[in-house]
Amino acid sequence: MPCKNIPTPLTIAQATERLKQGEIAAIPTETVYGLAVDATNDQAIARIYAAKSRSQNNPLIVHVATTHDAALYVEWNLRAQQLADVFWPGPLTMILAQRKNSPICKRVSAGLETLAIRVPKHPIALEILKKTSLPLAAPSANISGTLSPTTAQHVIDGFKGQVLVVDGGQTKIGLESTVVDLTQTPAIILRPGSITREKLQAVIPIGQPAQEKSSQPKSPGQFGKHYAPKQPLRLNATNVEQREALLSFGTNSIENATKCLNLSPKGNLAEAASNLYQMLHELDHPQFSCIAVAPIPDVDVGVAINDRLRRASQKSEVRGQRSEVSTALK
Ligand code: TXA
Ligand code: MG
Repeated sequence: MPCKNIPTPLTIAQATERLKQGEIAAIPTETVYGLAVDATNDQAIARIYAAKSRSQNNPLIVHVATTHDAALYVEWNLRAQQLADVFWPGPLTMILAQRKNSPICKRVSAGLETLAIRVPKHPIALEILKKTSLPLAAPSANISGTLSPTTAQHVIDGFKGQVLVVDGGQTKIGLESTVVDLTQTPAIILRPGSITREKLQAVIPIGQPAQEKSSQPKSPGQFGKHYAPKQPLRLNATNVEQREALLSFGTNSIENATKCLNLSPKGNLAEAASNLYQMLHELDHPQFSCIAVAPIPDVDVGVAINDRLRRASQKSEVRGQRSEVSTALK
């Protein structure tokens, strides 16, 4: 439900000030909105976990302004430099060993020896990073398990108006960054995104992930139900039932949906990615029994779209907890 008390958007200067004071500010990135906080401030980090109802074992991504800044916090190496040369600033998160005596709080990496780091490609995020001169931890600005936010309004609605947001309009890419683990050889993709396997492989060798054997997955955020609307999702739909909404792609012969949105009438996967969360937010309404999603080709960015849709359609216990706004923000 849209929030009625719409807080005044934060200016860049106000967000900078809040972040320096250890407060939370939601900021736009090129992928999704992030719930930013000073990554060196332990109390502020604790509040982020609480605000999102996020499991303490799910580490956060640190955002920095430049490659030079990244190398202050992680053990920089040739492969990281090769990827940074091509993809930073941009939607690529690298997992690297943390530097000893790093000022980043242990809580950011949930006790792991590694750190997830990226330089975002959004003028507002970059300006805030430069103005604060801080490494900013910024998970997606949603309650854990729910749909990711691609507009300021999604953040306001998700946190019932209790998070202040810098409004940068709709995010361009619309899917979270690709996460690549450089602590292994060859490197592996922990979370697919708009920087695809093929694009990465043109720069460094990328391996296939081994089946997760341990109970502690390499990327703790990548298990269980995630990115989910409140209404159920039905994937690879070739028809639409009564009371179902339809999320379509390209041209197909599915007819008679009460409400239909098309991710990309032209069948363009990048366009589909940028519309995915926005359209799921729009169709996530109790008047529909379910959101039926037409098949999306499992190639290129389609791999990342299908990854999110599969996780969003999983059944799990997340449902009960997720509409609650944490008291941490009150
Ligand atoms: O595009 C994005 O990456 C957005 C914007 C705001 O930058 N952020 C984002 O953060 O998606 P979040 O917290 O929603 O997802 C971070 C993912 C999770 O799957 C988490 O488990 C994984 O990155 N991650 C973080 N640190 C890690 C680490 N040290 N090792 C393995 N995975 C890690
Ligand atoms: Mg997230």
